[in-house]
Amino acid sequence: MTAKTFYIETFGCQMNAHDSEKVIGTLISRGYTQVETPEAAGLVLYNTCSIRDKAEQKVFHRLQQFKRDAGKGKVFGVLGCVAQQEGEKIFEKAPHVSLVAGSASYTKLPQMLVQLEQGDRRVTGLSLDTDETFETPFTRRDNPHRAYITIIEGCDKSCAYCVVPFTRGPERSRTRASVLEEGRRLADSGYTEIQLLGQNVNSYRDPSPAGWDFATLLARVAQIPGIRRVRFITSHPRDFVKPIVDAIDSYPVLCDHVHLPVQSGSSRMLSAMDRLYTRDEYMRCIDWLKSARRNIAITTDIIVGFPGETEADFNDTLALLDQVEYDSLFSFKYSPRPNTAALAMGDKVPEEEKTRRLTIVQERQRAIQIRRNAAAIGVVHEVLVEGRNQALGQWIGRTSQNRTLNFGADRAGDENLIGQYLDVRVTRAGPNSLVGESVM
Ligand code: 5AD
Ligand code: SF4
Repeated sequence: MTAKTFYIETFGCQMNAHDSEKVIGTLISRGYTQVETPEAAGLVLYNTCSIRDKAEQKVFHRLQQFKRDAGKGKVFGVLGCVAQQEGEKIFEKAPHVSLVAGSASYTKLPQMLVQLEQGDRRVTGLSLDTDETFETPFTRRDNPHRAYITIIEGCDKSCAYCVVPFTRGPERSRTRASVLEEGRRLADSGYTEIQLLGQNVNSYRDPSPAGWDFATLLARVAQIPGIRRVRFITSHPRDFVKPIVDAIDSYPVLCDHVHLPVQSGSSRMLSAMDRLYTRDEYMRCIDWLKSARRNIAITTDIIVGFPGETEADFNDTLALLDQVEYDSLFSFKYSPRPNTAALAMGDKVPEEEKTRRLTIVQERQRAIQIRRNAAAIGVVHEVLVEGRNQALGQWIGRTSQNRTLNFGADRAGDENLIGQYLDVRVTRAGPNSLVGESVM
């Protein structure tokens, strides 16, 4: 490599986005400069996702573009979940790739960079046998107000549809000391919102002798001076305990929002998926959340068309949506993934049927959101101002419940409100966002 420049594109979840922030920081600390286009870069990295089929295809599509002359003189690297899943096969599929590394190997990134710089064209980081987490002082954060902190990596569950245990390796938590120290440093440098990350964030268990559980950690992060909001994703229902809700009730800094993926409303499907809870057990978590003193927004993930899903199972999911009345949800058609248990299951649901079920879920949820959001009219919410929509002449705010609340603010003039916390009254509501006016 001649010029030490790099370009990185990130796919997938928030964990991946934050991994990229750490990768970028590591590269910069080693004398690399980030550039805006792959054309301008000596080192081109794709941090990939393989959660669903389409996510995975994207990276090969990108790599194809540089197959011939376009990629001359450049070094290509595939990071993340596709790298872990496909491993050295990537070198065969795309011979111009020189680095293939999964997230469990990022602690070795400096050594891998040295190998690349020395001209090695088959550098790999594919071991999953690790008890380390990727901690670095060099994180290059994208957002000046909200900072992400990974508290637990990997996954020890074995949901029948999911690649994550194969791509991110075994579960490993950071020590509470390291998490709190990072939180304090972030507060000192002006961040006001912290988002704690993990595939199963609430399975956190402090590895040091104190052995804090997630609820204890959450309460302590909430008490870091200067931090005004704390969020966390993603919670697994099996490890969701009442003390988490109690912590939210006790510390207003903890945001009024829990993302609790249910996947299906049918206990039969939940068992086939190996989710480790029944519908009733899930509903117990929902009851805790709904009987909290605070108005906690609840969101979820739904998979339709898992092998063996009957019309009756699907109707159970629709009934669950009506019962819980989620504030929003992500819904997906089941997609077969390598290595997973569901691959061998019979009774596949045809593609058109999956599409039909997905549409029904989305329509049902849209009606729920229209109704719920309309009920929010007149309510005042504190928002963190995240941006400005010039075309509409509105500021873009986010409520504690994680809803977008766009608003006008007459008094503002030319003032830049981004990063401020303001009270906004909701005046209009659509299915996916709210509009309001700043009060005062
Ligand atoms: N097919 C469809 N959706 C999936 N998800 C995970 N694996 C699959 C798959 N194989 C969804 C789940 C999970 C979200 C991140 O992605 O709903 O909660
Ligand atoms: Fe995608 Fe899952 Fe990997 Fe995140 S952990 S990038 S969602 S496959």
